[in-house]
Amino acid sequence: MTLPSDADFQHAVELLHAGELVAIPTETVYGLGADAANPAAVAKIFATKGRPADHPLIVHLAGHDAVEHWAERVPDIAWELMETFWPGPLTLILKKQAWVPDAVTGGQDTVGLRVPGHPVALELLRRFAASRGQSGGEHAGIAAPSANRFGRISPTTAAHVAEELGERVPLILDGGPCRVGIESTIVDCSREQAVVLRPGHVSPLHLAAVFGRQPAIETATGAPRVSGSLAAHYAPQTPMHLVASDCLLDFLDTQRHRGGHCGVLSPNEPPPVNLPHDWRQLPADPVGYAHDLYGALRALDHAGVALIVVETPPAEPAWTAITDRLRRAVAGAGQKN
Ligand code: TXA
Ligand code: MG
Repeated sequence: MTLPSDADFQHAVELLHAGELVAIPTETVYGLGADAANPAAVAKIFATKGRPADHPLIVHLAGHDAVEHWAERVPDIAWELMETFWPGPLTLILKKQAWVPDAVTGGQDTVGLRVPGHPVALELLRRFAASRGQSGGEHAGIAAPSANRFGRISPTTAAHVAEELGERVPLILDGGPCRVGIESTIVDCSREQAVVLRPGHVSPLHLAAVFGRQPAIETATGAPRVSGSLAAHYAPQTPMHLVASDCLLDFLDTQRHRGGHCGVLSPNEPPPVNLPHDWRQLPADPVGYAHDLYGALRALDHAGVALIVVETPPAEPAWTAITDRLRRAVAGAGQKN
């Protein structure tokens, strides 16, 4: 694929300066970006997504040296995590500097920061910061939630962003399909003890290597503090069920008797029996599965099936983030709006 041209990057920087939105590729999912220091620009993100305004956004930075422009009292553990995982799919929640706009933090005293591991995002962040010159501007950041309408499946290609937001975004930078495919791991380092708020590609096992112990995980449902923690999230419009492997064929057979045409997501090959269902095989390893998951859900959502049936993934730490996203998708699925 062809990456954005010099002129595309320049256009993107101009739009950001003008307080407009730019959709950007990251290694996790595509983001809907605005100048994080401009509350009016950030307000456009909420309006465009249809997202409640008290939900905090992640600020994307070009590098570690911008962190203390945005955050204060950064603990040692946060620096260690940055050293180990940035640029990459890890967001850190830190005490914010007083100047950071409420529009970005949802009025909280913390801010979410991340240096994304995608060449296009990094190039845009560097150019945007460089164009801002000195006295803080060189640490400029881009606030960006996932570039989908609120509650919908996050986009992992530029085409998905166009499908979600279309004409509502003046520019979509195409960086190809996202390498990771699910949203970043979020670790709250603003408290006495660091806590995982959202599991992701950086797994509990990876984090344990830095913490020297298993990290605490707190993925409460219903709390607006982390919008990714709302039970109904990342959801297709088609109703969706999670079904354990050993019940799957019986479940599908019952659906067949009822005349229901299902879309099936499974890491296994379709059974040799004749089932009138749309069976999509996903990779059997969690990294490959995460990479393909949102695209597959989106495709099944368009396939006109009555029900999306997902085989429950293994109950192993490496599958934590995938199970989390699937549960939320089930909770939010089937709402046609
Ligand atoms: O991978 C990702 O994180 C993608 C890409 C674009 O970077 N972004 C993303 O953004 O998933 P969004 O807005 O869909 O989810 C960001 C999550 C939300 O659940 C939000 O509530 C949480 O980060 N968050 C941001 N700032 C926070 C804060 N100060 N305290 C607690 N949670 C925060
Ligand atoms: Mg999102």
